[in-house]
Amino acid sequence: MSGILEGKSALITGGGGGIGRATALAFAREGARLAIADFNEQAAQETVALVNAAGGQAMTLTGDVTDSATVKAMVASVVAAYGRLDCAFNNAGIAGFQVDASGKRTHEWADESFDRMIGVNLKGVWLCMKHELPQMIAQGGGVIVNTGSIAGLVGLRTSSAYVAAKHGVLGLTKTAALEYAGDNIRVNAVCPGYIETNMTADTMRRRGAEIMASTPFGRMGKPEEIAEMVVWLSSDRASYVTGACYNVDGGYMAV
Ligand SMILES: NC(=O)c1ccc[n+]([C@@H]2O[C@H](COP(=O)([O-])OP(=O)(O)OC[C@H]3O[C@@H](n4cnc5c(N)ncnc54)[C@H](O)[C@@H]3O)[C@@H](O)[C@H]2O)c1
Repeated sequence: MSGILEGKSALITGGGGGIGRATALAFAREGARLAIADFNEQAAQETVALVNAAGGQAMTLTGDVTDSATVKAMVASVVAAYGRLDCAFNNAGIAGFQVDASGKRTHEWADESFDRMIGVNLKGVWLCMKHELPQMIAQGGGVIVNTGSIAGLVGLRTSSAYVAAKHGVLGLTKTAALEYAGDNIRVNAVCPGYIETNMTADTMRRRGAEIMASTPFGRMGKPEEIAEMVVWLSSDRASYVTGACYNVDGGYMAV
């Protein structure tokens, strides 16, 4: 039985981490050929090894999504290897503790922390789309999924630049969906709730009980539970879906 991404080529940024890695494995299971991009080269290589061990096909790309030339080169490498770019999962991201903003209210964020957060989590997504879209237009279509968050839908205390970036990602997603519908390109976002990855360890240590009390399922999500939504959005089964932002959050946004 063939998978629902059989024959597709896919680029996953942040593919060395929790959600990106789980999505890489799910994409491979469904028959996609993969390029795993990450700032952390060793992490990307580990994901590639896992994909290959599971019988998939993957290559490693390294670099920072905040650098336009690097992102352009990443897309060119995928096209050189696989001939086209069918699916892009623009997922690389960082949390407040990674820019020394853990637990800080809006006025306490340093200028540099704010700039880096917006640079990775918002401009990084835009740069990916900037370089992916021309290839998708030229080849006659494609699918993009951006990683938003529940932080793209509501405010979250002590996460101001993260929240601003994720609201921006959803705005970019909807706008690109409008602009490229005529090019046979679908653009959607997935909005995870609190998921078990490196990113949430610090927050859960500080406020885990409070967060779980606000989550109807009363547990964190697993990266694999986000991956299944990304697979579906990237597949032809979602052929009429564009400009949408899908929550995968254990009911957090329903409260
Ligand atoms: N974990 C959650 O609860 C949660 C919730 C909502 C949204 N998200 C989003 O999911 C995405 C993935 O996060 P995760 O939870 O898997 O975290 P993670 O830290 O496990 O993975 C993120 C990956 O992105 C890479 N990365 C970071 N900055 C980069 C850069 N500048 N260039 C290239 N790669 C870079 C990291 O090296 C890492 O491998 C992020 O966009 C995050 O904001 C996560």
